[in-house]
Order: sequence, then structure tokens, then C-alpha cells
Amino acid sequence: MKIRSMLAADLPQVAALEATLHPTPWSVALFDEELTLGAFCRILEGASGELLGYSVARLLVDEWHLLTLGIAPACRRQGGAKRLLDDLIHHANTLGSQAILLEVRASNLPARTLYQDKGFQFLYTRRGYYRLDSGSEDAILLIYPLPGTTGQSSGPNGPRG
Ligand SMILES: CC(C)(COP(=O)(O)OP(=O)(O)OC[C@H]1O[C@@H](n2cnc3c(N)ncnc32)[C@H](O)[C@@H]1OP(=O)(O)O)[C@@H](O)C(=O)NCCC(=O)NCCS
Repeated sequence: MKIRSMLAADLPQVAALEATLHPTPWSVALFDEELTLGAFCRILEGASGELLGYSVARLLVDEWHLLTLGIAPACRRQGGAKRLLDDLIHHANTLGSQAILLEVRASNLPARTLYQDKGFQFLYTRRGYYRLDSGSEDAILLIYPLPGTTGQSSGPNGPRG
């Protein structure tokens, strides 16, 4: 397994994998927008270059927001997600960022266990954040504090709204 930057040519495959993993998946256009804005978009690939996983994180001032992360079912529990998180933590530390933030569905126990094991801490619960066919689901907000020394400007991948 190795990690590299995501390229535009990867997007159809990445979006196809995402569509099998998330109830409200990102489209190719959404991944493309993040790439264009300079987000930290990473690919986990196998020895023959096959796609095993991906992650996308965006820098907002001096905080990283992990926007999406997925690992192909056939390659689960082999440390792939941990490696993508370590890669992001290393990158964020290199830039002197303050923290990594993310939100996860309350029912997503594999992901919650992963983040807890990596040292992410509970921040708060955003009630009813995810819309479901039958009602809604809470989002759990987690934070990974970093030493953070430099303030970053929002730059090309800052807030869009
Ligand atoms: C959650 C997900 C990313 C984990 O990927 P993974 O590569 O299997 O995770 P890792 O092998 O790096 O696991 C690291 C640790 O996370 C925890 N973990 C991962 N999957 C777990 C599961 N199914 N049940 C319980 N703990 C789990 C374990 O602590 C694991 O360490 P261990 O294997 O030594 O016990 C993967 O299941 C996935 O892609 N799920 C669908 C998409 C998703 O939920 N993304 C996150 C959105 S916030």
C-alpha cells in the first residue's frame, strides 16, 4: 500500500468507490472542485496501482476539515484508513496547523472507533444533521488538536460561502 496525491484522472474511480460507501456520495464534480481549490486529496493504492482508498481534507484558516474518507471493503482492517489519517496529520503538522476536525454519523461505529483510536476527541453532537428517509441522524464532531505554531490565511482552499 502507498499513498499519493489524487489526480483528475483518478476521479471517476474515486467517485465510483465513494458511491458504494456513503449514503449521500460526492460526485466527480465535487471531488474535482476540491482538487481545483487545492484541498489535500489523497489516494491509497495497492502494489499494482489499484485504488484501495482515498481522503479529502480542506484547510480553513488554520484548521483542517476532513471531508471524506473511504476504504474499499476488500482492504478493510489492514491499517489503510490509519495510514491516510497519519498522512493528513503529518501534512497538517508540517504546515503548523492548529487542529483537524471532522464529523461522523453517530451510527458509524467502525469510523468512530478508528478516530477514537487515532486520538480524536469528542467536541459536540450536531443533532439531526444527516437527513434520512425515515427522519434524521446526529453528527458527532471530533477534533484532533495539533501543536500549531503558524496562522495560515484561508488561501485558495478557504471557505466557499
Ligand atoms: C471506517 C473505515 C474508513 C475504516 O477503514 P479501515 O482501513 O478498515 O481501518 P483501519 O484498518 O485503518 O483500522 C484502524 C482501526 O479502526 C478501528 N476499526 C476499523 N474498522 C472497524 C470496525 N469495522 N469495527 C470496529 N473498529 C474498527 C479499529 O480500531 C482499527 O484498528 P484494529 O484493526 O487494529 O483493531 C472503513 O470501514 C470505511 O471506508 N467505511 C465506509 C466509509 C466511512 O465510514 N468513512 C468514514 C466517514 S466519517
